Amino acid sequence: MLPGSKWLSHQLGLEGLSPAVSSGIILCFWALSTWILAQVSSSVYRYYTICQYFRCFPQPPLQNWFVGHLGMAKWRHLCAEGSTYLDVFDHISLMTLDSLQKCIFSHDSNCQEKPSPYISSILELSVLITKRFNRFLQHWDSLYFLTEEGRLFSEACRLVHDSTNNVIQARKKVLAEQGPEAFLKNKGKGKTMDFIDVLLLAKDENGKSLSDKEIQEEANTFMFEGHDTTASGISWALYNLAHHQEHQDRCHQEIQELLRGHQPEEIEWDDLSQMPFLTMCIKESMRLHPPVTIVVRKCTKDIQLPDSRIIPKGSVCLIHIFGTHHNPAVWPNPEVYDPYRFDAQNTQKMSPLAFMPFSAGPRNCIGQNFAMSEMKVVLALTLLRFHVLPHEKPAQRKADLILRAEDGLWRKVEPLQEGSQRSI
Ligand code: HEM
Repeated sequence: MLPGSKWLSHQLGLEGLSPAVSSGIILCFWALSTWILAQVSSSVYRYYTICQYFRCFPQPPLQNWFVGHLGMAKWRHLCAEGSTYLDVFDHISLMTLDSLQKCIFSHDSNCQEKPSPYISSILELSVLITKRFNRFLQHWDSLYFLTEEGRLFSEACRLVHDSTNNVIQARKKVLAEQGPEAFLKNKGKGKTMDFIDVLLLAKDENGKSLSDKEIQEEANTFMFEGHDTTASGISWALYNLAHHQEHQDRCHQEIQELLRGHQPEEIEWDDLSQMPFLTMCIKESMRLHPPVTIVVRKCTKDIQLPDSRIIPKGSVCLIHIFGTHHNPAVWPNPEVYDPYRFDAQNTQKMSPLAFMPFSAGPRNCIGQNFAMSEMKVVLALTLLRFHVLPHEKPAQRKADLILRAEDGLWRKVEPLQEGSQRSI
């Protein structure tokens, strides 16, 4: 007899039926209730997880954080009462997504201020891919797409593909109406070419354009490869600079001197090559905390190692970026954060494969110049306006698809007064 059967039988009006039939109905009822409860719990959990991403927005800032940098208002607002503790990873992930959407689609998502279904789907896909990666049985498509997570994955993919496709179709319409020359001329009049424009106008040596599907795949690849990696790079750089105030002070002074007299305090293209110390700090941070820790390659021929052993053709090799960056034979005192490893004198002696955060060879990172520029702009403007301090809880490295921190990367952030001088 199932618990509560008598009471349930009464509630469902089954008293007149034979015990076998009423037990069957009660069993079905329990199964259905359990299934509904599981669905509701999973929806609540999903809603809660998505809300976690957006919990840091008590009041929308006026502008985007990266483009025009005035969105620093968000951190200023959070620091209104003085210093505050922030999970910088969460904030910066939204900022890198926001700026990529602007550069790829010319779309102001404002996702740092209010939830965006497109951005929620991208974040959800990243979480689902990591989970699937770690669950062996889910590697089979036929099994994965039967699961709840597989269904969520398909839904999120559909939303991302539809959004990208809508932009492509709208832009193609304008291109067809105006023709390529007028289209380009209009872009020259103030509007910047974005990644979709570049792909739409691209032609191979035979004059063949990319198909809609190819454009969609390229745009989505750049969205995925470009947001988490750069967010990881910026967040760990803030982490390391918070622990090394002397280096943070020197970066602050370098940026202050560079931007002295700039009205407004914007960073121009030429300024990017004028921040040598900040660049050294970013590189040393990517050595100690490489955003991508491993790459995989399949040998297309036999490879002979220095000790004469052979890796046979066809072998799949894991190339450990993190391991190389922490190998004491390559980097003496590898756990020490020392930006001077990257000053001009020392880099001359360095093997080209000792430092490879963007991988190496023909399939290295195509977005590395974009990433370095974004990291420099964001860090320069952050350090100009905020003093970043450590959190008492040490961060535990966590290698997902990219290098994260267990329970987030918490830092203490203190606003600096306009034009404030910091002692060195
Ligand atoms: C700090 C930031 C970044 C790091 C550390 C990084 C690192 C890497 C690495 C290690 C690879 C090679 C993967 C492999 O060999 O399997 C790669 C590939 C790639 N990255 Fe990045 N990346 C960063 C930012 C970006 C950005 C901002 C974009 C685009 C906007 C981007 C686009 C790509 C693409 C499209 C590939 C594939 C290239 C190919 O297969 O030919 N990355 N990245």
